[in-house]
Amino acid sequence: MPGKEHKPCVVLGVTGGIAAYKACELLRILQKRGIDVYVVMTQNACRFVTPLTFETLSGHPVAVDTFDRPQTWEVEHIALAKRADLFLIAPATANIIGKMACGIADDMLSTTVMATRAPVMIAPAMNTGMWENEATQHNLRTLASRGVQIVLPASGHLACGDSGAGKLEDVAVIAERALEALGRTRDMEGLRVLVTAGPSREALDPVRYVTNRSSGKMGYAIARAAAQRGAQVTLLTGPVALEAPQGVQVVPFTTTQELLERAQELAAKQDVLIQAAAPADYRAQKVAPQKIKKNSGEPLVLTLVENPDVAAALGRSKRPDQVFVGFAAETNDVLAHAQGKLERKNLDMIVANDVTLPGAGFDVDTNVVTLITRDEAVSLPLMRKDEVADRILDQVLMLVHDR
Ligand code: CTP
Repeated sequence: MPGKEHKPCVVLGVTGGIAAYKACELLRILQKRGIDVYVVMTQNACRFVTPLTFETLSGHPVAVDTFDRPQTWEVEHIALAKRADLFLIAPATANIIGKMACGIADDMLSTTVMATRAPVMIAPAMNTGMWENEATQHNLRTLASRGVQIVLPASGHLACGDSGAGKLEDVAVIAERALEALGRTRDMEGLRVLVTAGPSREALDPVRYVTNRSSGKMGYAIARAAAQRGAQVTLLTGPVALEAPQGVQVVPFTTTQELLERAQELAAKQDVLIQAAAPADYRAQKVAPQKIKKNSGEPLVLTLVENPDVAAALGRSKRPDQVFVGFAAETNDVLAHAQGKLERKNLDMIVANDVTLPGAGFDVDTNVVTLITRDEAVSLPLMRKDEVADRILDQVLMLVHDR
């Protein structure tokens, strides 16, 4: 007798906004794609759509605030939190976003989402003023830094009469994003991945240093995505202003030399090495032991010596079963330069980007890259860095499976 098919499970949180009715359509799309959907509603959501509607559509009881049945409630929310392969909140109001950002758990939905270990995705929908409010934006940044995936709202005519950002994204698009997240949840299980990120800092004296423009965002996005996909991730990070992704082992470095040493210690244990760090190519020949003083208008002459090329060193000791990915931030002749680095550093793939393009490069949340392997070059359109991260990892997985 064939075994019972295990369907992936989405726990769908519905909060109280006019777009709540659209969650019915979202539920149907997910079901048609073979997903088992369980619904949790806030009390306000029940004013827009009845639990009975979701109960009938999903074929499962709907969890709402049931403080009147404390014993079942306690068990129920943990069971739901565990059952989820993906926890999706659509529509997500400013209220639930604020609660999640602050760790407030005072109803069935906020408690359940806090208890889950599954990836969490939210599709916000609200009035433009609320959407643009600094509190909401700050909360969203907090959630994003913890790995919550956000399906940004569209702009358009809103139910409240306003026009602007805040309209729930098309449910078909939300469903696609959810399916993507599900398909990818555990496809890197068992793989050990080392990601390096951020700039190095080379001291000139006790108060000054040489560095370069790197925010670390791309490397952090890759580390986060790989961890979400089940990989065992070590993130070797330079000094950056980013929160460590959940479930990732973080090892700091300051100088290029330190990066080289740490990376060499860690490399042998890895299946995949992703060198997204931006090590400074030069360091001061001598670090002044005391603060360098101005010298009555005389030019300051610094002698810089070349740092080791970390990627080239790792490339030399790479085993044939390891997949090694590097980056090339270029301002001209992007493909030719990147291909040269792929060869010279013995990489399996290089992620090339033209940092002069709008939306690409430093300190932005988007990037425009070309993924170059020995066999092909795939140019991607402008994307958010978390999407670029997933596309890089898709390609990495193909290389891993080719070994
Ligand atoms: N890289 C490295 N160690 C260095 C310099 C670069 O490991 N000292 C790595 C980067 O992390 C990246 C790749 O090599 O993955 C390409 O870096 P990039 O700065 O574009 O190239 P360089 O080799 O420094 O060449 P150039 O500065 O001449 O463009």
